Amino acid sequence: MTERVKLTIDDIPVEADKGAKILQAALDAGIYIPHLCYLPEADLPFGGCRLCYVEVEGRGLVTACTQPVSEGLVVRTDTPGAARLRRTAFKLMIAYHDLDCRKCWKNKKCELQKLAPKLKVKLKTPEEFRALPTEQLPLDTTNPYLRYDPNRCVLCGKCVQICTIRNGKSLIDFVNRGYETRLALSSSMTLIEENCPSCGQCVAICPTAGLEPQSGLEALMDRTGEE
Ligand code: FES
Repeated sequence: MTERVKLTIDDIPVEADKGAKILQAALDAGIYIPHLCYLPEADLPFGGCRLCYVEVEGRGLVTACTQPVSEGLVVRTDTPGAARLRRTAFKLMIAYHDLDCRKCWKNKKCELQKLAPKLKVKLKTPEEFRALPTEQLPLDTTNPYLRYDPNRCVLCGKCVQICTIRNGKSLIDFVNRGYETRLALSSSMTLIEENCPSCGQCVAICPTAGLEPQSGLEALMDRTGEE
């Protein structure tokens, strides 16, 4: 049987499996901590979005999705330091994001729109976090089933994680570094036919409009259904 540990989160007593992450323990106890890139089913925490900062007694500011619980841990989600880091991480995330939401097909279903009020951040371009001028990047339509919009992608890595979980090896991956970081979708039909189960989870899990199905995905799913 898995050992249980007792901790407190915002003075609320919480019990969790030893080794569980603080974020999961909080969510299971009904305590909300902002988060975006966290996938409970992933073997290793990704820790990319930095929206889940909390303060832990004796450890300082940590990301709740990467830090395990332990006996007697004292966690605070509401300190000024944690809130400031979460807001900064969010502003960096939207600094180059196309915020013309009315023209976006994901408008009103976008996770950024839900997170902004929780983080007390206005969903408008934070000019102080921009180092480069605005540039509309071309869409990547080379994959027959998915369309990638780098102007709407926030590089949360959820599509990469879910594809790895489903297939053992992701058909989507990060390329380049820094401001040039993008997602690359496999456009090799051999790789796609051999490895893509056409589950559509990469599109379903995308929190923004970064990934969109192309008509080929439906065709592939129909074909898979016949087999
Ligand atoms: S949810 Fe913790 S870093 Fe993204």
